Amino acid sequence: MIRPVDAILEFLSIEQARGVTHVHLDEGARDTLRSLFLLSKKGGTAPVSPSSQSLPSPAKAAAPASVSSLMIEGETRAQQLDSLRRQAENWAPARALGSLRETMVFSTGNPDARVMLVGEAPGYQEEKEREPFVGPAGQKLNDILKAMGLPREEVYISNIVKFRPATARQTTNNRKPTPEEMAACMPFVRAEIGIVKPECIIALGGTAAEGLLNLAGTVTAMRGDWHDFEGTPVRVTYHPSYLLQSGGSNPVKRQVWEDMLAVMEKIDLPISEKQRGYFLQK
Ligand code: URA
Repeated sequence: MIRPVDAILEFLSIEQARGVTHVHLDEGARDTLRSLFLLSKKGGTAPVSPSSQSLPSPAKAAAPASVSSLMIEGETRAQQLDSLRRQAENWAPARALGSLRETMVFSTGNPDARVMLVGEAPGYQEEKEREPFVGPAGQKLNDILKAMGLPREEVYISNIVKFRPATARQTTNNRKPTPEEMAACMPFVRAEIGIVKPECIIALGGTAAEGLLNLAGTVTAMRGDWHDFEGTPVRVTYHPSYLLQSGGSNPVKRQVWEDMLAVMEKIDLPISEKQRGYFLQK
């Protein structure tokens, strides 16, 4: 039997996926949410919001972006992430859009990572291998991580959208996800952050920053400063594909490296003289 709280949360997720950002709650609805909130505090069976461990206050419940009907199961972080992965496979709000491809590509990496990287969506190669960042952009990302002294296996790598955005007569071409596609998958990203609890997040490119931080504009304007995602510091940098497109131009490389140095400083990773000196003008 479907529980009332699941029905409400499912409804809100679908509305969110349709791009709806506010719903009206009358007094009766508020009362229902209050009682569900109290029930969850008493150890009832209402689902737990992974980032806060409690449902939002009734006033905040009007913003569906902060709720999720995901059930987090398991004791360890790896088990909990695995329970998310299983739910992502047939995630109704994403399927309902009809604009995303069939294969779900979940995140990869260390469930106890100190650093989480968020990209936009899987591309051709990622869909084929069912792993984020394994194509040319992924190779570039691996190089950046190696230069930081952080092997790929040590970090957690996610995408805002868990399915490859579809296009007409699609072969190897990819497209940027729409705001609706991002909203449909955001509950997973939020839940992943709540489980992994990284010390800092790197948003790779403008789309990731838009999805995570609701920012609009250029990466040039977004980078160079710390942002915040529900208490976790976020650094925005250029997407590795942009580095590839810019032909490894030194100013872009240097800016990405400055962003990575800021991340390393933030979490107290050791920085050698050589690392500090990369791309300094001779
Ligand atoms: N680009 C992304 O943003 N994510 C991937 O997984 C691959 C390429």
